[in-house]
Amino acid sequence: MKHFLTTADWSRPELQAMLEDARAIKAAPYGDALKNKTIALLFLNNSLRTRTSFDVGARQLGGHAVVLSPSGGMWPLEFEDGAVMDGEAEEHVKEAAKVLSRYCDLIGIRAFPKFQDWKEDRKDKILNAFAKYADVPVINMETITHPCQEMALIMALQERLGDLDGKKFVLTWTYHPKPLNTAVANSALMIAAKFGMDVTLLCPTPEYLLDMRYMAQAEQDAKAHGRHVHVSHDIDEAYAGADVVYAKSWGALPFFGNWSEEKPIRDRFRHFIVDERKMALTAGAVVSHCLPMRRNVKITDAVFDGPNCIAYDEAENRLHVQKAIMKALVG
Ligand code: CP
Repeated sequence: MKHFLTTADWSRPELQAMLEDARAIKAAPYGDALKNKTIALLFLNNSLRTRTSFDVGARQLGGHAVVLSPSGGMWPLEFEDGAVMDGEAEEHVKEAAKVLSRYCDLIGIRAFPKFQDWKEDRKDKILNAFAKYADVPVINMETITHPCQEMALIMALQERLGDLDGKKFVLTWTYHPKPLNTAVANSALMIAAKFGMDVTLLCPTPEYLLDMRYMAQAEQDAKAHGRHVHVSHDIDEAYAGADVVYAKSWGALPFFGNWSEEKPIRDRFRHFIVDERKMALTAGAVVSHCLPMRRNVKITDAVFDGPNCIAYDEAENRLHVQKAIMKALVG
């Protein structure tokens, strides 16, 4: 039994096979590959795309989704092994995972960081606890990485650009009034490198570099393709000649949990917005974002509503790639 926790656990050919299946599913959306199969979707955080696309995707293949969330009446869960459960939690993840495994064929987990202590959050305890105790495959629906988003992005890029090897991929930090999860940035960096692109990470200062776990994974994958991961704090240099601009905001890890100290730094870099001037420096790059996206804060209307934006294709592809992932996991 194999889980889908991170694309780092899967080879490029394995992921490409799922992308080929997703392409076939996109052409013929309905089938019975998940007939009589049920996926439990556990949401500890908000969602529009993930929740809808997994539910719709399971149904289109003859399956069924059960959405669980604390706001929907689920028992509060304990995730620590050996915990003395005399606090708020009524149920241990061990029981939850094992019981759900008796009812369901797949379990999806969305559990964002608590944003208090990165050393703790980087352990991805909730996802890993479900993976440890579940007797059915577990899918990461976004924790500290977002592998389903990675697959949707690569599918959209292959649809628009064809072969991605050697393309210049720029992951640009953008301003956001709040510190956000690094999950999509970690994921974009890793998947771009895994698919042979030349990756530039553009961020305001070294404090916005991503966790070394993901930087190192991307560097290793880039090196395997004879490529590099470049870090730049120079907007014009980073955008020059780009084939892909991927926009995302994230909180600086050294200030994790001390966001009042980060805010004055972040506020100095509102000009990292993706706009027409910057896009004119590229080689006619496509631009995308995982969504949700604050218009005219992260990307201007002119760019987002323009012909080079593939964010809607990426969002649509969530449906197709997740169907392929669910199919692959249930065999
Ligand atoms: N991109 C993404 O995962 O969207 P949701 O948070 O709406 O699910």
